[in-house]
Amino acid sequence: MNSNVMAARIVADTIKTSLGPKGMDKMLVDSFGDVTITNDGATMLKEMDVQHPAAKMMVEVAKTQDDEVGDGTTSVVVLAGELLSKAMDLMDKKIHATVIIDGYRDAQEQALKFLDEISIKIEPRDKKMLRKVATTSMASKLVAGHGEYLSKLAVDAILQIAEKTEEGYEADLDMVKLEKKPGGALTDTTLIKGLVIDKEVVHSDMPKIIREAKIGLLNTSMEVEKTEFDAKIHIESPEEMQAYLDQEEQMLREMVEKVKKGGINVIFCQKGIDDMVQHFMSREGILAARRLKKSDMEALAKATGAKVVTNVDDLTETDAGYAAVVEEKKIGDEKMIFVEGCKNPKAVSILIRGGSERIVDEAERSIHDALCVIRDVVEEPKVVAGGGAPEIEVARKIRRYSEALSGRERLAVAAFAEALEVIPITLAENTGMDPIDAISELQSRHEKGELWAGINSLKGEVVDMAEHDVYEPMQVKAQAIKSATEAATMLLKIDDVIAASKMRSPAMPPGGPGGMPGGMPGGMPPM
Ligand SMILES: Nc1ncnc2c1ncn2[C@@H]1O[C@H](COP(=O)(O)OP(=O)(O)O)[C@@H](O)[C@H]1O
Ligand SMILES: [Mg+2]
Repeated sequence: MNSNVMAARIVADTIKTSLGPKGMDKMLVDSFGDVTITNDGATMLKEMDVQHPAAKMMVEVAKTQDDEVGDGTTSVVVLAGELLSKAMDLMDKKIHATVIIDGYRDAQEQALKFLDEISIKIEPRDKKMLRKVATTSMASKLVAGHGEYLSKLAVDAILQIAEKTEEGYEADLDMVKLEKKPGGALTDTTLIKGLVIDKEVVHSDMPKIIREAKIGLLNTSMEVEKTEFDAKIHIESPEEMQAYLDQEEQMLREMVEKVKKGGINVIFCQKGIDDMVQHFMSREGILAARRLKKSDMEALAKATGAKVVTNVDDLTETDAGYAAVVEEKKIGDEKMIFVEGCKNPKAVSILIRGGSERIVDEAERSIHDALCVIRDVVEEPKVVAGGGAPEIEVARKIRRYSEALSGRERLAVAAFAEALEVIPITLAENTGMDPIDAISELQSRHEKGELWAGINSLKGEVVDMAEHDVYEPMQVKAQAIKSATEAATMLLKIDDVIAASKMRSPAMPPGGPGGMPGGMPGGMPPM
C-alpha cells in the first residue's frame, strides 16, 4: 500500500484519542527529558519527532489550522486521516486517485456551502455567545474546570482591542500580551488594561508608583561609555584621580538632568543603568527599570505612544509616552511593573497565574486558543453548535447531493461525507459510548430535523448541543474542511516519494537519478 497514506494515517490515529473534552492528554518528552503535558493538537504535533515526509505534511496541516483560526487542530488531522482512509477503500475497488480527488473537491465545495447555510449569524459583540464559544474551546483542556472564568477574561480582552472597520470588526491578537507567573491559583489570573512588565524597579529608593507617567524608552545603556579599545589613562596624582572621577560623575549627573528636563518620570531601559545614575534618578523621584526585553520595549512603544530612542539626548517630551499609572506590584514572591491607563487603550495583558509552571504553560496555550476563537467570531460572526452536530448534518446533506451524481464520482462524494462523520464517531469513542449506536442515533435524529443533535461528551449521550451551550466558530469548521481536503488530495496525487539530489547519503551522485527503489531514501524512515 501507499506508504505516504499509511504514514499520514498513523499520525492521525496517534492524536485521535485526544479529541474532545473526554480526550486523553499526551505527555511529551523531548530529547532533554523536558516534559510537556497537553491536549493541544498543534502542540502535540509540533513536539512529535516526525520523520516521514507525508507524516510531516499532517503536522503542517495542523500548523496551518493553528495559524489561520487557532483551534480545531486535532480535528483537521483526524479528518485528513479519515479522508485518506476512505480513499484507500475506494482505490481497493479500483477507483482511480484522480476520480477520488475530483469527488473530494466537489464535496468540499458543497460542504462549505452547507456549513454556511446552517450557521447561526450573531452580533459580533454578543458577549454571552462569545463566552460560550471560548468555553467550548477550553472544554477539552486541562484548565477546563476554570473555563468560564478564563473565558470571561478572554472575551473582555478581545472586545477591548477589537477595532471597528468598514465591514465589521478586526482584532489583532498581538495587542493582547500574555504574561505568566507561576504561583497562586488559575483564578488569580487577571486582565490588565495596559501592560505588565516582568521587571522590578531598579533601585530601592525609587518611587514604586508614578501617576500621570511620562515614559521614556531607551535602548542604550545609561552608563559612561567605555571606549572600544583598551585605553590607558595616565593619572599621576590623587587630585587628577579625583578630577577624573568627578568628571565621570558629572557626565552621569547630566544624563539624569536631561531626563528630568525632558519632563520624564519613568524610564524603561533595554540595557544597563549605572549605580550612580540609579542613585541620582531616585533623588529626582524617577522610576526606572533596566534590561527589558526588546519585545516589551516594542509593546510599550505601541501602548504608551513613546518612541524608543537610542540616545539620552533624545529623551524629549515629544518622544515620551503616557500612562495614567506605572506601579510596581508584588505578585507572589516577585515584583512586576504594571503600566495602566495607557495612551492607546487597545493594549491589554492577561497575567496568568497557576499552581505550577506546567499549569501556567497549558493555561497560556488554552487562553491563546480562546482568544483565537473569540477573534474568529468577532471578525466573522457566524457560529455552529459543536459535539459533531455540524459534521453529521453536512454529511447528510452531501449524501443527498451525491445521489444526483453518476457512478464513480458519487462514490467519492459519499466517501467524503462518511469521512466527516469521523468527528462525532471519535467524540463518542473517546467518551466511552458505542460509536455505531451513537452514529445511527445521530443520523436518525438529524433526519427528523434535529439540526444540533450531537455528542454530549460529559454525559455520554446524544443531546441538542445548542441547548448545552456548546458553540464553535463556523470559521474553525470551514478551515478544517478546507485544509484537510487539501492535504488529503495532495497526498493522493503523490504516487511515490523521490529522493531529491541534496541527499546526505554520499552514495547518491548529485543530480543523479531521482527515483529510488522503494521510494524512500533508506527505506521507510522511523515515524
Ligand atoms: N462539551 C462538549 N461536548 C461535546 N463535544 C464537545 C464539547 N466541547 C467541545 N466539544 C467538541 O470537541 C471537539 C474539539 O475537541 P478538541 O480536543 O478541542 O480538538 P481540536 O484540537 O480539534 O479543537 C469539537 O468537535 C467540539 O465540538
Ligand atoms: Mg479545541
